[in-house]
Amino acid sequence: MSLSLKPLADALGTEATGVDLSASVSEEIVEALKEALRDNLLLVVRDQHLSAAQYLAAVRLFGETMEQHLSDLLMEEHPEIAVLDSRNSPVGNDGRGIPLGSKDWHTDHTNHANPPKMTAMYALSLPRAGGDTGFANMHLAYEALPDEDKAHFDGLKTVNRIENNPYVSDAHKKRFGAAQIHPLIRTHPETGRKAIYIHPGKTERIEGMGEDESDAFVDRLMARAIQPENSYRHQWQLGDLVIWDNRSISHIAYRDYDHKERRIMHRVILAGDTPV
Ligand SMILES: [Fe+2]
Repeated sequence: MSLSLKPLADALGTEATGVDLSASVSEEIVEALKEALRDNLLLVVRDQHLSAAQYLAAVRLFGETMEQHLSDLLMEEHPEIAVLDSRNSPVGNDGRGIPLGSKDWHTDHTNHANPPKMTAMYALSLPRAGGDTGFANMHLAYEALPDEDKAHFDGLKTVNRIENNPYVSDAHKKRFGAAQIHPLIRTHPETGRKAIYIHPGKTERIEGMGEDESDAFVDRLMARAIQPENSYRHQWQLGDLVIWDNRSISHIAYRDYDHKERRIMHRVILAGDTPV
């Protein structure tokens, strides 16, 4: 078995096959995976068969795990892992499950002073069809803006708060409840590239704007930012371990499946630094 890397889309993503992360892997392979992730922002490692402990060890090749505030979803023996099981989804007025987490395009956990640099998900059970995740390259979204918008947006800041989700405990809401201010345009600490950096659901407002003005601004910005040419829609296969760079990518959980079918993902986040 030997590692093979293949692009998934023009905008982002690499597929890795021929690697078994349940066993120890050579330094050379780890470096190749890290490089693929750095260059292409998202890595899909196919066909993994991992216990929870093996999954954590695999993800730790890329960084340090950090605590998640998805209180009721955390695995008892391994609280670094949140179990996203679609059967536990809240149900919307239309009778369809609302995916756990945000339902719109976003980057993760911006209610932290140091939000996670990366998020990993490992697919253990999938619906018969759908359950896709969308990813958008926010460097490309930034670079496509006219210069005057770049100059304007460069100075803006978002005010972020934790969302009022039912599976987040009061203790976690309190602990991670303080407002966090982040730059709207973030510079990647390793590559120096700028990206639009925002979680609309956690953005209480853009600093200096009223609530309505801010909501309209964020809606317009996201409508411009997410485009087919900068995006990739991942159709999951069982055993996919997907890891992506939250400093560069926005993502969305599509509501394109029957939540009563078992879609089970194990989610882990990796510690990041203060956005600048
Ligand atoms: Fe998310």
